[in-house]
Amino acid sequence: MPEAEKKSMEEIISFAKRRGFIFPSSEIYGGFASVYDYGPYGVELANNIKKTWWKEMVQKNDNIVGLDSSIFMHPKVWEASGHVGGFADPLAECKNCHTRLRVDHLLEEIGVFADEKMSEEEINKLFEENKKKIKCPKCGSSDFSEAKKFNLLVKSNLGNFTGDWTKDPAYLRGETCQGIYINFKNVLDTVRVKIPFGIAQVGKSFRNEITARQFIFRKREFEQMEMQFFTHPDRAMDDYERWREKRWNYFVNILKLNEKNLKWHQHENLVFYAKAAWDIEYQYPFGFKEMEGVHYRTDYDLKQHSKFSGQDLSYRDPKTNEKYIPHIVETSVGVERIFLAVMTDFYTKEKLNDGSERTVLRLPNILAPIKVAIFPLLKNKPDLVQKAREIFENLSNDFMCEFDDNGNIGKRYRRQDEIGTPYCITVDFDTLENETVTIRDRDTMKQERIKIDELRNFLQIKLN
Ligand code: GAP
Repeated sequence: MPEAEKKSMEEIISFAKRRGFIFPSSEIYGGFASVYDYGPYGVELANNIKKTWWKEMVQKNDNIVGLDSSIFMHPKVWEASGHVGGFADPLAECKNCHTRLRVDHLLEEIGVFADEKMSEEEINKLFEENKKKIKCPKCGSSDFSEAKKFNLLVKSNLGNFTGDWTKDPAYLRGETCQGIYINFKNVLDTVRVKIPFGIAQVGKSFRNEITARQFIFRKREFEQMEMQFFTHPDRAMDDYERWREKRWNYFVNILKLNEKNLKWHQHENLVFYAKAAWDIEYQYPFGFKEMEGVHYRTDYDLKQHSKFSGQDLSYRDPKTNEKYIPHIVETSVGVERIFLAVMTDFYTKEKLNDGSERTVLRLPNILAPIKVAIFPLLKNKPDLVQKAREIFENLSNDFMCEFDDNGNIGKRYRRQDEIGTPYCITVDFDTLENETVTIRDRDTMKQERIKIDELRNFLQIKLN
């Protein structure tokens, strides 16, 4: 296997843009901070990530069902969840360069832990005590303003046509799981599920993140994949451990991330209602950071929504007749955090035996944006082009394919290697004689000749 090199964040950002994976939003207007767009290959990769998650969470578990709740919900949802009152990060400004910074992150850099529950006063005291040791990451100054708690919920004027909507806003959801909690009873009453069961959903969330300069790691509009598992309090801890194991295995066995780049991080200070909280961290180019949270949230969420809505959200066990508020085990991960982990893990520069270099995205087949590329050897030979087009039309029924007749074959291989395409098919003059093509493997770079009518079968076996 050729030697692989370590990659930097800058390299990944520039590669993601150059090869149509990720574009900064509104670039022709100078960009829009912390918002990004998926390009043609990015949207395929993100969709494939979501498909693997859905398959592992919903399709393969007979006690997990899907949901797609709205981005907008009744504003009381966010009061009940605690987001209106408490979903706030401490913000300070560097007095020298005016960069806004997360105070808890600045403290973390020097090994000081600021608890989420700390009041503005408490965090300012801690900040003051440590200010001299902290430097602005942009200009190096230690002259900061006081910390202010800044609420992360994004407000809108939805449905408000007359009054001052800033006082009575509708919020864009800050997390998808609230849509699950408020539909708990609907699901229970309409689908044949019994506790323990889970509800899974994938969708956009919005947060007014303060410092969001880590590419797609911390966006203001992002996508979450969350599953809430409703269970009896007596078995909740066992379920929790089972889900921890399952989620770890998803990253290792399904996404094939290098296990060396993964680790568990236990929350030291639990929020008052949680009984256990561990994150799966990934080693991004800027260090180990949270990719997914697996948390045991007890009965807090359903109790809160019961209290604020006045509805009974308890469950009656059909066998024992016991009535209780179910406990919740949550698994929560951002699509972008997986996307960035996948890019980091599989983006490789290789030195080949002949001394040349190639960039290859060594994606597992299930994640590859394009599964098969089809080339006519020469674009000015109509017979070759027509045959290659026929193969494209045939295979694109079953696989995401790309047709490419531009440049020499070597360059076309390199372009496909860069975007992670597992197989390239070339139609040459022999094809016209004997109905065979060459098929080239991305990783081994070996080519073999194969009959056109065996292609589908070959790919089905290899790609699955
Ligand atoms: N329902 C629990 C919840 O939302 P969280 O730790 O705030 O908990 C869960 O978020 C996951 O969502 C994180 O582990 C991360 O993968 C993703 N996430 C959170 N904020 C994000 C952001 N600003 N940009 C991208 N992903 C984010």
